[in-house]
Amino acid sequence: ALITLRQLLDHAAENGYGVPAFNINNMEQGLAIMEAAKATDAPVIIQASRGARSYANDIMLAKMIEALAAIYPQIPLCMHQDHGNDEATCMSAIKHGFNSVMMDGSLMGDAKTPASYEYNLGITGRVSAMAHWVGASVEGELGVLGSLETGEGEAEDGHGAVGKLDHSQLLTDPDQAVDFVMKTKVDALAIACGTSHGAYKFSRKPTGDILAMSVIEAIHKKLPNTHLVMHGSSSVPQELQDIINEFGGAMPQTFGVPVEEIVRGIKMGVRKVNIDTDCRMAMTGQFRKIATQNPKEFDPRKFLKPAMDAMRDLCKLRLEAFGTAGNA
Ligand code: G3H
Ligand code: 13P
Ligand code: ZN
Repeated sequence: ALITLRQLLDHAAENGYGVPAFNINNMEQGLAIMEAAKATDAPVIIQASRGARSYANDIMLAKMIEALAAIYPQIPLCMHQDHGNDEATCMSAIKHGFNSVMMDGSLMGDAKTPASYEYNLGITGRVSAMAHWVGASVEGELGVLGSLETGEGEAEDGHGAVGKLDHSQLLTDPDQAVDFVMKTKVDALAIACGTSHGAYKFSRKPTGDILAMSVIEAIHKKLPNTHLVMHGSSSVPQELQDIINEFGGAMPQTFGVPVEEIVRGIKMGVRKVNIDTDCRMAMTGQFRKIATQNPKEFDPRKFLKPAMDAMRDLCKLRLEAFGTAGNA
């Protein structure tokens, strides 16, 4: 059954667990997530980016969510707009059945220019008021995602850099976070702590200087009742890099956010954990493997079924590690 982000994260906070928010673009990813949720008896957040909405079509996504909720009636399911960039995107998502939206006002509407605090406050506050009128939940973002190693801020979807930023922009300021949440009334707050989207987050296993978990702790101390959101939370497991590279891929060695750091974050108020890249890699590893091992194969299902199973297994691991399992 559908549940709002607010209801779901309130339950997570009361019971001390975190909820992964997995991105979808197609039916196979939707089924993989729901199979994992069913196997672990976990609630789950499914989110679609603006790119996913234009890839799959809003009507297709809406009917797919309806179908997933009907196939898995026992699973509490939240349908969330990932990285909305203006009022129209958030409102059209709600119109198409999303019961939760992210208004990412950390960047301007072009999704690549860092925004002023006043701009972010204004647009997030407006979306928050409108969404709450119709019973939808809202996630805001304060601070720009990007690398503390290179100082490069990143565009919304990791598909481009916004240029050099200083640490004060790449790390959410705890006092400003208090002001932001009070004025915008968001249900959840995405923070910047050195993570970025995509596979290439860190050049080494991250330590406190490049993955600033201390920022999360400081924000949680000042905002103990606000649900915190970690973006760019794929762990980019070595096994998934290896399988892709073993079967013809050429991904340079890279490091993600270790699962144990996320688990630490959950103890410090992180309730929503955004994961897309790990799911993509799990699927793509299988595509490459089957294409290499069985070059005569041409039935897409022979590629998609193992890919779905690999994504399901990845989702199960995260639902178990974050304590989501058993809370459906
Ligand atoms: O925001 C980042 C997510 O991984 C979605 O990426 O914009 O390529 O769909 P996308
Ligand atoms: P990853 O690229 O680390 O999976 O992050 C996804 C995300 O933050 C979606 O909003
Ligand atoms: Zn994100």
